[in-house]
Amino acid sequence: MTKHKIAWLPGDGIGNDVMEAARIVLSKLELDAEYLHGDIGWDFWCKEGDPLPARTIELFDKTDCALFGAITSKPKEEAQQELIPELQNKNLDYYSPIVRLRQELQLRTNLRPCKAFAGNPLNFRDDIDLVVFRENTEGMYSGVEFHPVPQDVMDTLTAHHPKMKRFAGVLPDEIAISLRIITQEAAQNIIADAFEYAKKHGYGSVTIAEKPNVIRETSGMMIREARKVAAGYPDIELWETNIDAMAMWLIKNPQNYGVIVTSNLFGDIISDLCAQLVGGLGFAASGNIGDDYAVFEPTHGSAPKYAGQYKVNPMAMLISTKLMLEYLQEDEMAVKLERAISQVILEGKVRTYDMGGSSSTLDVAKEVASKI
Ligand code: NAI
Ligand code: MG
Repeated sequence: MTKHKIAWLPGDGIGNDVMEAARIVLSKLELDAEYLHGDIGWDFWCKEGDPLPARTIELFDKTDCALFGAITSKPKEEAQQELIPELQNKNLDYYSPIVRLRQELQLRTNLRPCKAFAGNPLNFRDDIDLVVFRENTEGMYSGVEFHPVPQDVMDTLTAHHPKMKRFAGVLPDEIAISLRIITQEAAQNIIADAFEYAKKHGYGSVTIAEKPNVIRETSGMMIREARKVAAGYPDIELWETNIDAMAMWLIKNPQNYGVIVTSNLFGDIISDLCAQLVGGLGFAASGNIGDDYAVFEPTHGSAPKYAGQYKVNPMAMLISTKLMLEYLQEDEMAVKLERAISQVILEGKVRTYDMGGSSSTLDVAKEVASKI
């Protein structure tokens, strides 16, 4: 029996290209693993009416974690048109398989390391080493939304909150409500994960970026829980900033920050900002981690115009692979892989187009493998 079982989910477009790159590196590391292929993405929507078929969901019970490439998704009308004729008019709705993965597997923590590798020409500065922890299942992305807003929802809110009075009389169709829901448990979990990570990886600070002066209840909950958790980590400083100021500070002094923790929507935005500080989509890796399962993926999409051309940068995928190795407690391999990645970037001989080179996706992977 192999030590690890990994669900292998290339998905669409360049998802396949970069997963091939990951495999080259994993083979070189001789990770003792079985890779179980899973179907996910646009083809399965078109042919089966489900971009995340039940057989793929079953795979999650049989594996320790998943490595995922990228998928294509399209707006509602296009999604309908591309269904095979037999599936047209069956009232099928396209729903993002990634959002579904996160919710069904309760992958509550989104981890986004943003490290400036020395020698990367795309770095904003060379001394950035940030990690964003984003709550992954609640907040503004809870999915509890109303449009049109039913009258009884309006009436209940008005009865319970004086600030609703100004909206009285707005027609149901002319108002939309999206609820920002944060549970104490989710707040505690994401903050505890951030502090644990800071401790394990030697970061001196955790910054909570919220907006408690305006969004008093949900951001207030995040800050309260952060203070409680921080009390258990006397060696790590808790910094509190407003999310809007955080965006400015991250451009002004990104080198000052270590671990940053925030709720779902704020984290979505700020993690893209941080990714761009260290090279953008070609470097933006992520882990979606729950109590029982985790999915690792580059944050870029399927980039259809480059599909199958082996042109794109596999670094985001390789850094995601490193995160997976850490999750599997293969710390030594994770260190080896990161060292090899650093070396290839520093030498600068083998680079994809986004870094000013002309090497292929697989050339980069082979170069990284050769340094292991
Ligand atoms: P995208 O991330 O696929 O690509 C945008 C552009 O960024 C590309 O054309 C390319 O110039 C550059 N790029 C992306 N990855 C790169 C890499 N590894 N190396 C170098 N350059 C890279 O975003 P886009 O074009 O908005 O979306 C394409 C499809 O992907 C859509 O169907 C979208 O819904 C889907 N998508 C899927 C995601 C996922 O699977 N997690 C995330 C974002 C978009
Ligand atoms: Mg995003």
